[in-house]
Amino acid sequence: MSSREELHVRKIRNGTVIDHIAPGHALDVLRILGINGREGVVVSIAMNVSSKRFGKKDVVKIEERQLAPQELDRIALIAPNATINLVKDFDVIKKEKVHLPDTITGIVRCANPACISNSREPVAPDFKVESSEPLRIRCRFCGRTMEKSDVLKQF
Ligand code: CTP
Ligand code: ZN
Repeated sequence: MSSREELHVRKIRNGTVIDHIAPGHALDVLRILGINGREGVVVSIAMNVSSKRFGKKDVVKIEERQLAPQELDRIALIAPNATINLVKDFDVIKKEKVHLPDTITGIVRCANPACISNSREPVAPDFKVESSEPLRIRCRFCGRTMEKSDVLKQF
């Protein structure tokens, strides 16, 4: 980086950096986290910035906020290569990759209204991940497939 070049988004003192999001997907990550900007914390977004590993990437920085394990599972659906960095006093004190499991339970509802997982039966939704990028999951009960846009509609 030349000395005249600066970071697109400055470093944060405390909070969470969601790094290595596929280019163009930052807003979807915020959506699945339910963050709309009215929480009052500083949220910075960089889109299509250059990345050594992926060519281009998006980055989201949420200040004064730590993510729960359940939130990391949601991010994995939208950004399966994301790295979650916990920052304290400007240092990365924890770095973890999200993990998209082969089976999704309890995050997404089946889009088929007639599916048994949408009835009053005590049957939790259960999907097989057929593809991570682009996302495609298949309901184990009715066979309905869902894509990223179908998942995002629920958030
Ligand atoms: N970061 C930040 N504020 C800090 C520290 C780090 O915004 N106080 C951001 C960096 O800009 C980077 C991410 O957090 O986007 C991870 O930081 P770091 O681990 O220092 O970078 P790398 O070593 O390049 O990370 P990786 O190996 O995961 O690509
Ligand atoms: Zn179903």
